Amino acid sequence: MTNIIVEHYEKPNMGEAILAALKMKGIDVTRLKPENLYALDQFHTRGIVGTKEQANLVKPNETMHILDIGCGVGGSARYLAWNYGCRVTGIDITKSFIETAKLLTKKCSLDHVIDFEEGDATDLRFDNDKFDVIWCQNVSMNIEKKDLFYKEISRTLKPDGRFASSEYALGHGGSPYYPLPWARRRQESFLISQEDMRLYTEGNGLEIIEWVDKSKQVLAIAPRALKNLEDDEAGLKLVAGEDIASRMSNSTKSMIDGHIENIMMVAKKQR
Ligand SMILES: C[S@@+](CC[C@H](N)C(=O)[O-])C[C@H]1O[C@@H](n2cnc3c(N)ncnc32)[C@H](O)[C@@H]1O
Repeated sequence: MTNIIVEHYEKPNMGEAILAALKMKGIDVTRLKPENLYALDQFHTRGIVGTKEQANLVKPNETMHILDIGCGVGGSARYLAWNYGCRVTGIDITKSFIETAKLLTKKCSLDHVIDFEEGDATDLRFDNDKFDVIWCQNVSMNIEKKDLFYKEISRTLKPDGRFASSEYALGHGGSPYYPLPWARRRQESFLISQEDMRLYTEGNGLEIIEWVDKSKQVLAIAPRALKNLEDDEAGLKLVAGEDIASRMSNSTKSMIDGHIENIMMVAKKQR
């Protein structure tokens, strides 16, 4: 059966296109650094700014093993391993994202501390109590089976381990405007309210220790983010598709009209 979420994201030959675009910009792709890729590998709200804020909330260290669920092309995995010295495993349901994540990570010489594999967030192949931190950015809105998603996070996290996540939630203004960055059609989107997100989190043995509504910050940087997207030929378009600027514009309009909200949260797995 075809998976409509994979169809939405799949983009063959992405890795080669990214390397060619970076070369055109004068970047030496034989010695890539994670920061050379920030404009294209942070496929989530507020890009690298959001990643840095989320990392500050969990304070990773070199003893930790982090699982990045829905890792995309691996931007946050590389950021975490490079800046904090931790080990990272990334899983994603989209094959071309995982292939690109592996290629870019090898080019950054970080493949000895990061591994990537295709996998479904609702059916993780990992043992119980394995990870110190589970990391997620802009993924849950693509997941219909929320109960399985939160169960798997709780099962694979160590007791006292942290689940850190940034996500869109459904606002109180009704259905958002499509196409959106995570869904060109309504049937690809499974947004729930902040209240329901909290219920799923706490209902699966995860104690919420941070919960911040970031909607104002998202709107504050939206015009600049959109301009960067339109101008940069070696930017997020290469990963998210040529139509990402119009999808992002719809996301901003949806937020202004109260259809969607944005949160960053951290929860601790109870013993
Ligand atoms: C908006 S992108 C975010 C990618 C990445 N987290 C980032 O911030 O750059 C959403 C990602 O979630 C992945 N995804 C969606 N549903 C998934 C599932 N059931 N299991 C694993 N990954 C999934 C998609 O393939 C895509 O890479």
